[in-house]
Amino acid sequence: MPPFSTILHLDLDCFYAQVERERLRLPSSAALVVIQWSMALAVTYPARALGIKRGMHLDEIRRRADPSVTIVHVETIGGSHSDTTATIAPDAPNTQKVSLARYRTASARVFEAMNAVLARCGAVLERASIDEAYIDVTLEADRRARGGRELTEMKGMVIVGDKVDMGNASDLRLMHGAAIAAELRQRVLRDCRYTVSAGVSVNKLLAKFASARNKPDGQTVVPMVAVEALISDVPLRKLRGLGGKLGREVEEMGVITAGEARKLSLEELERRVGNKFGRFVYDSVRGVDDSEVRERDKTKSLLAAKSFPKAMTLEPVERKWFPILAEELAERVGVESELHNREARTLVVSFRVRHTGGAREMVSGSRSAEMPLGGVEGRAEAILRVGMAVLRKVMKEEKQYGFPINFVGLTGTNFLDRANANESISRYFTAGEGKREDEEKEGGKLVRDSLEEHQRRLQESKDREMALRLHREESLRSLGKVIQKPGAKQGGKKKRDAGGLATLDRFVFGKKGNKS
Ligand code: CTP
Ligand code: CA
Ligand code: CA
Repeated sequence: MPPFSTILHLDLDCFYAQVERERLRLPSSAALVVIQWSMALAVTYPARALGIKRGMHLDEIRRRADPSVTIVHVETIGGSHSDTTATIAPDAPNTQKVSLARYRTASARVFEAMNAVLARCGAVLERASIDEAYIDVTLEADRRARGGRELTEMKGMVIVGDKVDMGNASDLRLMHGAAIAAELRQRVLRDCRYTVSAGVSVNKLLAKFASARNKPDGQTVVPMVAVEALISDVPLRKLRGLGGKLGREVEEMGVITAGEARKLSLEELERRVGNKFGRFVYDSVRGVDDSEVRERDKTKSLLAAKSFPKAMTLEPVERKWFPILAEELAERVGVESELHNREARTLVVSFRVRHTGGAREMVSGSRSAEMPLGGVEGRAEAILRVGMAVLRKVMKEEKQYGFPINFVGLTGTNFLDRANANESISRYFTAGEGKREDEEKEGGKLVRDSLEEHQRRLQESKDREMALRLHREESLRSLGKVIQKPGAKQGGKKKRDAGGLATLDRFVFGKKGNKS
């Protein structure tokens, strides 16, 4: 078994912007900006050349844009901008809701194209977000290397440090991994007309770091020898998991860069931040990441939600917002059913209101009901009917709640896999009303408070990652080798630039970010 893995990270270039560019049938050279309300959400590279950046305000964009620049609003539902074919951005008041349907569909097509290539290699793809994935290609790269497969020129290829040692098995595999990356990028370009950038290295962190270095339409190989120089000057706080409190605590020990942090002994670190985190920091600054590429954990719930900075009365909630949310959830439950062959059984209606008992504080809560079955349209209607009945009842009957409300969310959860179909499942699908006891219990305890629940879930996914890494470090240590990793991904900075551009997607993919 090869001692070092060959890992790819693929990330679509300016993803939403490419989707809109293709939808509007513009050439690949088009300067295009996707805005959400009045802020840039995604910017094509020709538009970036004009100084337009993600997070930039529409006024500023207009100042910089010449007439050749297309400004398009992100897809919305439930408002006049639902079909944004206009090339002029509306100074959109915050009265619609953003829809990610278009980008999700595009994303599904991209991963389908990649999977078509991977099927031949027997490799699995881990979707890390709407526009990126990790792939462990160690075995296929090894097969190719051993078989003496010839390497041809690859488009947009950069090797950090400018040299690989073809006599070194790990480096040789990296080059064959790069060839696979090139095939994947080529296939996506052919099938979807989107460009993808790729990173190729020995672990996930390095691969992710690499994919951002040579955008757009590039691919970057980070061989082992280049790692140390590559990450030494990277600020410690940019390493994955070190952006927050933990990183600050280490900084207080008088180090700024990963290189400086490497001078700290394991004992010193453990004394400062505890054993668990000390080890994590120690590994991180050395570029060690032994986390496995695995199929993405299937999401535990699907959420369609809307918050109202100005509290909303019953009438607009019922007439406008609830139908929009019901339709969004119905669509996503349907997609989940098709893509992952599983059904959400519970519908959770969550809400937040100002305490009506005279107190100032906000109170939130949720109630569950059985998820209606049916096609998208029928289900949307049924969700509207059932959900609205639940909401009306709670608001009316429980004295701490009442309209107007500040938040409403619809969650589909309590999934049942159709793949492992057995008797009890078919009973569920056919009988419907004959609910089993455990099902009841599960549904009841699922989401007591949707807001808190989602926050908790975000934290949990971070903890899981940490736990996994800590667990794997054992095997790594026994290897006795130091694998280097950076992890200072450019993406981190860009995310922050985007400020308040939060999307529901974070909930689906468990990504860190602002909540809408
Ligand atoms: N996105 C978002 N909100 C954010 C960050 C990203 O809605 N806070 C969307 C963007 O519009 C983007 C997609 O998610 O198109 C993927 O994000 P990312 O890969 O970070 O950026 P890209 O726009 O794809 O640009 P790059 O070429 O740098 O990858
Ligand atoms: Ca991207
Ligand atoms: Ca991305």
